[in-house]
This record gives sequence, C-alpha cells and structure tokens, in this order.
Amino acid sequence: MSLDDILARIDTDLPEATERLLELLRIPSISTDPAFKADCDRAADWLVADLSALGVEVSKRPTPGHPMVVGHLGDNGPHLLFYGHYDVQPVDPLDLWDRDPFDPQVEDTAKGKVIRGRGSSDDKGQLMTFIEALRAWKAVKGDWPCRITFFLEGEEESGSPSLVPFMKENAEELKTDIALICDTGLFESRTPAIVTMLRGLLGEELTVTAPSLDLHSGMYGGIAMNPIRALSKVIASLHDETGRITIPGFYDGVPELSDALEAQWQGLAFDHQKFLDDVGLSIPAGEQDRTPLEMIWSRPTCEVNGIWGGYTGDGFKTVLPSKAHAKISFRLVGTQDPLAIRENFREMVSAALPDDCEVEFAPHGASPASGADTSGAMFEAARQALSDEWQIPAAYIGCGGSIPIAGYFQNILGTEPMLVGFGKDDDAIHSPNEKYDMESFHKGIRSWARILDALTK
Ligand code: BES
Ligand code: ZN
Repeated sequence: MSLDDILARIDTDLPEATERLLELLRIPSISTDPAFKADCDRAADWLVADLSALGVEVSKRPTPGHPMVVGHLGDNGPHLLFYGHYDVQPVDPLDLWDRDPFDPQVEDTAKGKVIRGRGSSDDKGQLMTFIEALRAWKAVKGDWPCRITFFLEGEEESGSPSLVPFMKENAEELKTDIALICDTGLFESRTPAIVTMLRGLLGEELTVTAPSLDLHSGMYGGIAMNPIRALSKVIASLHDETGRITIPGFYDGVPELSDALEAQWQGLAFDHQKFLDDVGLSIPAGEQDRTPLEMIWSRPTCEVNGIWGGYTGDGFKTVLPSKAHAKISFRLVGTQDPLAIRENFREMVSAALPDDCEVEFAPHGASPASGADTSGAMFEAARQALSDEWQIPAAYIGCGGSIPIAGYFQNILGTEPMLVGFGKDDDAIHSPNEKYDMESFHKGIRSWARILDALTK
C-alpha cells in the first residue's frame, strides 16, 4: 500500500470528512465568552470521541479555563506533536453574516466550493486536515506512520491563559522531536508555505476618567476636560508622520532583515497592491521607509482595536462624558520585550494626559515574537512534500499574526515548531462570513499525508 493509495482514499472520503468538519463547526466554542463555556467543553468532547474512534489514546484534560485534548498513538519512528485549537472567535457583528455562523454549510461560489461558518478556517478546518490525513493513513495501511502526540487547545483565541502552566506540568508528556502547528495560511492564497517567523502580541486596555459623572455639554462644555479628547490626542501621538511608533525604547530589539532573508523575500514577488485592493485599500500605511512584506512580517506595529465612550446609540445626545476607553495592541518582532514596552507605554500615556484625567490600565496578554529554525532535515522534507501536492515550490514565509505556543514549544519543551497551514487571505478569519475553501481542506489533508510519508521515510 503506497502513498498514492492513501491519497486516493482521501479523495473518496472527502464528503464524509466534510460532514465531520461540519459537525464540529456546529459547536459554538467561543472561548472568550463565559456564556459558551459548556460549548467549549462539548467541542473538546467531540474531538476526544473522534480521536478515540480512530484508535488514539486520548482524553480531555481539565485546566482552570477550557480543557486541553491530549492524545497519543504509535510506538516507533520519529515522535511528532500536532497542535491546533478548537476554540473560535466571537461572531459579532452578527448582522453582517449571511447565515448563522454555527449552521455551517458547503457553498458553491464563483471561486469554487467553500465551507462557510465560524472556525472553518481558524482553526477547526485546519486541525481536521491533520486528523483526516491520519484517518486515511490508518484505513489504508492498518497502522500509524510514526509516534504522534495530539495537543489541542481551547483557549487560543482568548490569550491561552492555561497554556504555559499546562505545558510546564506536562512537559515530559509533550516533548517530541518536532511540533507541527496547523494555524497559518498559504502565501498569496496559492503557494504552500512554512512559516519561519511570527510576531508577538501585547494587549492593553485603558480607561480615562475626567469629570466624575457625565455632564451636559452645554452647561459644562468649554470649562470641563473631555476624556475622549484627551485620549484621542494621546492615541494620535503614538505614531509620527512617517508611521514610526513614538513610545520610548519601542524599537529596542527590532532587528534589521539579514541580506539573505531580504533576497529571499524579494524572490517571493509579493503583490501588495492586490493584497490591499482585496480589502478596499491601495496605500501601505506602515513605516514609510519599509517594504510591504516588512510591514506585515518583520516590523512591529501599534493598532487601536477599539475606542469608545460617551453616547454611541441611535440619535444624538449632547453629553460631555466622564469616561473614554480604548483597546490597543502591539505586534512585536525580534527580541522586543513585551513587559518593558507595556511599562513604557503606560508611562508615556500617563505623562501625556492632562492633570484632570485619571487613567487605569488593564493588561491583555504579552507574548514575544518567535521564529523556527528551518535547518533540520525535516523542514526540507516537508517543503518538498508540500511542493509535490500543490505543484508549486513551497516557500518559507513570515506571518504577521501571533501564535504564542510556537515560542513556548521552543522555550519550555525545547521542541522546534513547524508551522504549516492552508488558509487563504480572503478566508475572513475573525470576521463575518468566515470560510475555508474546499481546496484548502482537501489539499490540506493530502499535504499532511505527504508530509507524514516524507517525515517517516
Ligand atoms: N490563526 C491565527 C494566527 C494567524 C493570523 C495566522 C493570521 C495566519 C494569519 C490565530 O488563531 C490568532 O488569531 N491569533 C491571535 C493571537 C491570540 C493571542 C489572540 C492573533 O494573532 O491575533
Ligand atoms: Zn488560529
């Protein structure tokens, strides 16, 4: 029985594999919202049941937050770990969805079949690509390709509060030769890719209070400090006119690209006009002296994710509000220190606000950037397997998003992370109408079969 038999099995089993994914997508496992705690638990149970049926020794492992799913199979050959997350992002704004986010379906679109629903791309569809590849392998060969540990998380979209303690407590069980992570995408929605660098993430929420209560803006307007005005001025000062971030010490630890990486990225011939055009934009808005790929992969950012205060309902209200709020996140690169940046940011904001304003800060996660050392033979084998499946040479790329566990594999377990995923730029992850292309799902499953074959030869 050869790899071709396994690939053929994957092709014929695709309708059943799709049904299984739809079942998982029906469970609204929104990790950040306590109202969906039981659903997160149900998603973990679903995975335990599916993996058990496949013959994996697997269990749901409690944490102070949502459970982990950990399983083991096989007893010889290299020892691989597979990581994915079964939790999903909230669905709001719900009115922008064309259907119920948790009533997924396969749709025919102009660009081909897509699986529509929250979590289809991030990350349930992706994690099922690996499980389906193993299912086909087992069905055809009657055996496993090698030793594999499953590590499926239910808190990735809400900052993974239980992850580090769990990894430390279970380090011996989770240590493997390599950690496969399926939570990233294709390059330009077409070229298979292995991610070699990920940005870190620092989150801060701030509340500025000026008057002790909401005021009539006619009675007090002119004499009373408006906290929204004070907060917007501080926010506006976080970038200078060239797009550079002004927080003291912010660029400490930000490396310049090596000549080799610069040349390799040039070779990718990234079409940034299309990338922007697809989302209704045309002008790169980052640091003006940087290339588009640097802006999204290797330069740090500061983004306001939300800002609110005063009256935002229907109609109009002449209020001079007591409070103004913002959520701000920073993508970090190189050896930028999240905690030092948090401190400097807070100091800068506090110093810039007028005396009549009070500010309170709430932290929302802090993880440094990470990278993968691709010099091991397994990386070249996987790259070749991906190239074979997609009939395009696979690329080493950066990723602007953050997957903190990649760094934890290195630092806590000493395991190199290999990041392979099949998402496309227009999957609308974290957005309304999220989808996963049937092509991503199908070729994703086939890719893992080829990678498993290549890694165990
Ligand atoms: N799957 C994404 C990471 C990602 C984003 C990969 C974009 C490829 C392209 C992951 O689930 C995610 O969204 N991570 C969060 C970080 C987390 C700590 C909230 C992110 O990057 O915002
Ligand atoms: Zn994800």
